[in-house]
Amino acid sequence: MNADEAVTAASAGSAPRSEGWDARRALVVYESLWGNTERVARAIARELELRMTVVIENAETAPTVLDGFDLVIAGGPTHAFSMSRASTRQAAVLNNAAPRVVDRGLREWLDRVLPVPRPIAAAAFDTRVDSPRLPGSAAKAARHELRSRGFDVRAKARTFRVHGYEGPLLDGELDGAAEWVRELLREIPPPAPAASHEHRADR
Ligand SMILES: Cc1cc2nc3c(=O)[nH]c(=O)nc-3n(C[C@H](O)[C@H](O)[C@H](O)COP(=O)(O)O)c2cc1C
Repeated sequence: MNADEAVTAASAGSAPRSEGWDARRALVVYESLWGNTERVARAIARELELRMTVVIENAETAPTVLDGFDLVIAGGPTHAFSMSRASTRQAAVLNNAAPRVVDRGLREWLDRVLPVPRPIAAAAFDTRVDSPRLPGSAAKAARHELRSRGFDVRAKARTFRVHGYEGPLLDGELDGAAEWVRELLREIPPPAPAASHEHRADR
């Protein structure tokens, strides 16, 4: 069992049993240069999968029409105090030996996301270096963008810490991701069943 599977196994027995979120549809979107944010996104998706159907996508390929989802969770690395840009991703390759150029990051995906006709629940997360603790957060910026497109972003943005620019994640952050999901599902009211069923009939 690898570390990620261990997180799933550890959390499987403690999934919340409130039924409102069961059998819903969630989308998890991530941007990741070295894989740290992706690992957090996968831990989030695994926890959600205990309750509902989950689609997990890289920001490069993620859908931009989101009204078919009941919950959207999006995350990326903090670059230069906010969401990455083409220039910071290029700098990561040139100066920090990042393994690949990411063409479409969280910022560019959000730019393309269409406003939603009803306030779909959404939450944002980021990864940031642990030391030195710099100000600024990609998650806060992403949350702001989600709100401006009509999402219900009552959940606070959440940060997960990495060692240096390339990681790895600090110990315990994958468990923290699973716990964050359980908190979200307790705190965010699920959509009314009738609205969701009507919506499903349309798909
Ligand atoms: C160009 C660049 C700028 C960065 N700026 C910040 C920053 O302002 N604050 C911070 O905490 N981390 C910063 N970092 C570190 C990233 O947050 C870190 O590389 C990221 O969390 C790793 O996640 P990933 O493997 O998913 O890309 C920066 C990294 C790069 C490459």
